[in-house]
Formats: sequence, structure tokens, C-alpha cells
Amino acid sequence: MTAQPTEWRNLYGRRRGKKLRAGQSELIETLLPRLAPPGVDRRENPERRKLDLGALLPGAEEIWLEIGFGGGEHMVAEAHAHPKAGIIGCEHFLNGVAKALAQIEREGVENIRIHHGDARDLTDVLPDAALARAYLLYPDPWPKARHVGRRYVNPENLDGLARVIRPGAGLHVASDIPDYIEHSREVAAAHPAFTIAYDAPGPWAGWPSTRYEAKAIREGRSPHYLILQRA
Ligand SMILES: C[S@@+](CC[C@H](N)C(=O)[O-])C[C@H]1O[C@@H](n2cnc3c(N)ncnc32)[C@H](O)[C@@H]1O
Repeated sequence: MTAQPTEWRNLYGRRRGKKLRAGQSELIETLLPRLAPPGVDRRENPERRKLDLGALLPGAEEIWLEIGFGGGEHMVAEAHAHPKAGIIGCEHFLNGVAKALAQIEREGVENIRIHHGDARDLTDVLPDAALARAYLLYPDPWPKARHVGRRYVNPENLDGLARVIRPGAGLHVASDIPDYIEHSREVAAAHPAFTIAYDAPGPWAGWPSTRYEAKAIREGRSPHYLILQRA
């Protein structure tokens, strides 16, 4: 079940958008290095030593992960609502990272760390059963049949998440694409380490919404929510 991390993985989707403003570039150069977990990059840590989460987020009672946080609105809202949790957010779209950093600085958030890059590189170096919660919100849908293998919910990624999510904790998934939800149900049902603990058109308690969700609702699509629970 625990797949060995491959040397190279394809990462699809945009890495950057329009040119960053000067203030955004400055945050990437100054704040991001202070918030980035050391040792996620393969070149820096080729033997894939596990992260020291106590040193990364001192005092955090639990560690949470958000995969593909977009502009970071949900992650920052969760950090405020759960100050005792330490949240690690991953996002490979530079402009999204810049947006999240601006919010973190403006609002004085202290319990977030950011990996700018592939979430799979981060999960590779998390210790076993490190996570009390994980989020995958409005993942890139990859609607074409020939691109389904690019979806973040896939057997290999669930293997990696099964190692790092603690038993009883859940991967929280939201999507406005019915086929992505059905796909996630099927992949989870076939995986020995996950059961579907929540499957509803309304969100779990305490849901602060996301930018993509607001857009989906504006455009007439209906969100759906799943919690894939680690057995
Ligand atoms: C459709 S957006 C949703 C953003 C946000 N979760 C929301 O609901 O507003 C999906 C995001 O996932 C990011 N993403 C996709 N695959 C990723 C990966 N392997 N590692 C990190 N981020 C990823 C993309 O860059 C994109 O910003």
C-alpha cells in the first residue's frame, strides 16, 4: 500500500499567472522562506527524511493539511477558527501563494506554514499518522476521459495520504463536478484504508467556503462534500 515516491512526477496545471506586483514579489522573497517547511524539495532532502513537525509548528496540538489552497481564503479562515491547530498548505500556483501570504501577513496569522510546490512532495516527508485533518477543496476537475489519471484523488495519492492521516481522521473533499465526486467515491471504496464517512450536498460543520465554491454557486453548479475517513 505505501507506494515508494517516484523520482519524477508530472504536475499539471498553471504554475504562474500574471506578473506579481512588487509587494507580492517581496512576500515571496521574504515571508515564504520563513514559512516553508525545510526538506520538502527532493534536491535538498534526497533521502526523504521526515519533517520535524514539533520544530515546524511549535505548540500546535494538531497538524492539518490543505492541498491546493488556491488564494488561501479557506486555510486562513481555518487558522483563525482553530488557533491550536498548525496548518500546512500546499499550492503550486505562485499567484495563489502570493495572495495567501498577503492575507497571512495582513491578519498576523501564526499557525500556517506553506509549501509552494507539489503537495505530493510534502506528503512524502510527513511522518506516519501526522495529520488530524486534510482538505482537498475544489480540486482541478480534469473532465476529459483521457485526463482522469491527473485527478488528485487516485489510488497512489490515497496510498500516500493513508500513511500520513491518522486513523479516524478524514480527507475532506469538496467539488462542484458530479463526475469528480463519483470518481472519488469509487477510488475511496476500492481503497482498503478509507471509508466514506460523509457524503452530502451540504458541507460539514464549520465550513468557511472557498473562492471556487462561490464561483461555482454563482454559475449555477451545486457543490457536494465527502469525508474519506482513514480506517
Ligand atoms: C480549482 S483550484 C481550487 C482552489 C481552492 N481550493 C478553492 O477552492 O478556492 C485547484 C488548486 O489546486 C492546485 N493544485 C493542483 N494540484 C496540486 C498539487 N499536486 N500540489 C499543490 N497544489 C495543487 C492548483 O494550482 C489550484 O490552485
